[in-house]
Amino acid sequence: MLLALLLPAAPTSLTGTTIRINSAALSYVSDVGKAPLQQALKVMVPPFLDQSGDVHLPIRIQILDVHVPHLDLKFIAGFGIHLMATANFTIKVFCIPEALELMMPVALTADARVAQGPIRTPVVSISSCSSNFSPASVLGDNNSTSPELLILVQKHIRAILSNKLCLYISNLVQGLNVHLGTLIGLSPVGPESQIRYSMVGEPIITGEYIALDVNADLFLLGQPITLTLDATPFVLPWPVGTRGTMATMGLSQQLFDCILLLLQKAGALNLDVTGELVTRQFPKPMPIVLKVHLGATPVVTFHTNNATLRLQPFVEVLAASSNSAFQSLFSLEVEVNLSLQLSVSKVKLRGTTSVLGDIRLAVAASNVGFIDVEQVHALVGTLFKKPLLAHLNALLGMGIALPSVVNLNYINPEVFVYEGYVVVSSGLFYQR
Ligand SMILES: *[C@@H]1O[C@H](CO)[C@@H](O)[C@H](O)[C@H]1NC(C)=O
Ligand SMILES: *[C@@H]1O[C@H](CO)[C@@H](O)[C@H](O)[C@H]1NC(C)=O
Ligand SMILES: *[C@@H]1O[C@H](CO)[C@@H](O)[C@H](O)[C@H]1NC(C)=O
Ligand SMILES: *[C@@H]1O[C@H](CO)[C@@H](O)[C@H](O)[C@H]1NC(C)=O
Ligand SMILES: *[C@@H]1O[C@H](CO)[C@@H](O)[C@H](O)[C@H]1NC(C)=O
Repeated sequence: MLLALLLPAAPTSLTGTTIRINSAALSYVSDVGKAPLQQALKVMVPPFLDQSGDVHLPIRIQILDVHVPHLDLKFIAGFGIHLMATANFTIKVFCIPEALELMMPVALTADARVAQGPIRTPVVSISSCSSNFSPASVLGDNNSTSPELLILVQKHIRAILSNKLCLYISNLVQGLNVHLGTLIGLSPVGPESQIRYSMVGEPIITGEYIALDVNADLFLLGQPITLTLDATPFVLPWPVGTRGTMATMGLSQQLFDCILLLLQKAGALNLDVTGELVTRQFPKPMPIVLKVHLGATPVVTFHTNNATLRLQPFVEVLAASSNSAFQSLFSLEVEVNLSLQLSVSKVKLRGTTSVLGDIRLAVAASNVGFIDVEQVHALVGTLFKKPLLAHLNALLGMGIALPSVVNLNYINPEVFVYEGYVVVSSGLFYQR
């Protein structure tokens, strides 16, 4: 009970993000995993004490090299991952009078369970592991050692290795877990705001993929912000995105709603525009400032191949008065629809916008009497369109961190827009 209170609060809102790691990713892990596995299997073998003769001289044994020609990983539905590997050990045996080199092939199999860990990151644990030794062969033609001794030496090596190999594989997996733990690292979203992803439940594992549902916790000035979202769970269809890709990510509309809310709360969407106003009403060029304030959260809408962003800024038009203070002339309620193009680079989702259709203006208040909306529309519209787009594109161009772990990048990503959600199909690249 007390422990439950100390653990990070369970998420109350779900931002609907699913990451699917497909079997292509397992092939990639098999490839890049050979080198660390080889490294991990370099076991120290204690000397062999030959008790056959009168003099009991210890025979030093050294593993010169481990070569893993074959590593294969497969999903076990509802459980985790099955590992099959073959490793060739090159072992030097310092026999008297002549040292010799042995080649000992070993087949390794292990089952690893993938689950949700206590800090809501994926945790891999070896549940069963075994090693199967094939007879060693003597390398070169230094085969002067007695066959009896060779048999005893091999027995000794097998006993040591069969104890240690699985332990070393477990250690390797522990290192992997530390790495997977970086999923919950904080990443900036905009100025003073951050995002952190964590798992919301046990992973779903099928023969074809492992799916993690993750939640985004959002922080403004270091404080978590609470969001009220509709509780409809997000379900990512299968299959979706590019076939054969390593990772498929489903980002629900809710995630975007939350991020926009965060940016709005942080004031990151507000801007000031300076310019000049010349109308029938103000025939002398008048230096003005437009204070663009987003009181309402922008609304993003996803239709197949079409993402739009609707902004409803409140624009206050101020004029510099004689005493260098600003005086409010009038204010406008503006509505503008933007087309949103999404792309992914490294581990960030970036956006660029362009204006769709017309900008709608309505006068909210005026301190200078009647305002001709038609005239103001032409002037304010052009005055504010370019800086608004530049501001939004700079902000969205910085990108929003997608779920990832340290040193893992998305490569050749493709972004698809569907009804109510976005899919990112991508390769993975691990940078050592
Ligand atoms: C590893 O051992 C297997 C079985 O003895 C053998 O076929 C293979 O050529 C060896 N590979 C290397 C690189 O020594
Ligand atoms: C084989 O024996 C020769 C001569 O005794 C020695 O120089 C060589 O290092 C030995 N080879 C191995 C693989 O131990
Ligand atoms: C050493 O050589 C003998 C005879 O050539 C052979 O029977 C034996 O299998 C060899 N031992 C090893 C470990 O290769
Ligand atoms: C996207 O949807 C908006 C609003 O429905 C529409 O005005 C626009 O033409 C569409 N764009 C594309 C490229 O389909
Ligand atoms: C923006 O798009 C919405 C939904 O398609 C539409 O109802 C609204 O009239 C559009 N506003 C403008 C200013 O084009």
